[in-house]
Amino acid sequence: MEIAVLGSLNMDLVTNVPTLPKIGETVAGSSFENTPGGKGANQAVAAKRLGASVSMIGQVGDDIYGMELLNYLRAEGISVENVSISHSTHTGVALIGVEDSGLNSIIAVYGANMDESAAYEESIRQAVVGADVLLLQNEIPYRYNVIAAEMARKNNSVVIWDPAPVRGDALDLAYIATFITPNEHEIVPFIDESEVIVDDIQSVFDISLRINETFSASPIITLGEKGVVFVDEGVPLLQRARSVVSVDSVAAGDAFSGALAVGIGEGMTLPEAVRFACVAGSICVQRRGAQVSMPTREEVDSLLLGF
Ligand code: RIB
Repeated sequence: MEIAVLGSLNMDLVTNVPTLPKIGETVAGSSFENTPGGKGANQAVAAKRLGASVSMIGQVGDDIYGMELLNYLRAEGISVENVSISHSTHTGVALIGVEDSGLNSIIAVYGANMDESAAYEESIRQAVVGADVLLLQNEIPYRYNVIAAEMARKNNSVVIWDPAPVRGDALDLAYIATFITPNEHEIVPFIDESEVIVDDIQSVFDISLRINETFSASPIITLGEKGVVFVDEGVPLLQRARSVVSVDSVAAGDAFSGALAVGIGEGMTLPEAVRFACVAGSICVQRRGAQVSMPTREEVDSLLLGF
């Protein structure tokens, strides 16, 4: 089963702090490291470690970070033939603070990920054909996502769009994709409300049904420790989350989306695939880092037995 991931590759510059700084405040971090990230590349590693054949499509700069990110993906066994190199800007970076509670804040400087060029666009057109599942996020030019999604749907591929980070101006992909995987913040642009109260699961059920009726994409709404709400054959369902202690929530959504793609690509039912993805996300939050914290298939399968 072939999964194509079109998306970002970033070098994450990560520091741990007791509490994230407020505006105007300076705090001392307790650690610092460079570690491979980017929502697209994170999802590619998640899917690969869970057993899929994965091809990454994206763009890095002609610099050390770009080469390191490509080498990391190669070492994971991911095809990077369709990652192009921008000569006009730097590789994407993300400045990440993780506080002791496990919560984080991120400033991403997308650089090459957003640098449009004929070569970048052509590599997308070449690479999308032939994939069983296409995974998309929001860290590359939006119109590239649309081109890829339209091509993939014509090819009868499943398209999973993780609309992260949130952008209010871009909804038409939800009329093309097969599934969308927003969290409670990312769902807001899809509904006529300013926020979602996640404590009230019935209202999330109502929202999921509304989205399901409005767009062609079926919503799979991740609610952190509250679980996941999704619509299966017209019925809203809640998959509870595993109860774990989170040390770092960075890339938990990427672990979820990558695993969901594997489950769906392997022909699991939607409830089975969501459960599988929940377990993958729950392992990721118990480890520090993005790509380095993605679980293996053995780890997910062994925890699924008791879940
Ligand atoms: O989803 C986590 C990712 O978001 C990080 O790896 C960072 O690169 C940002 O893109």
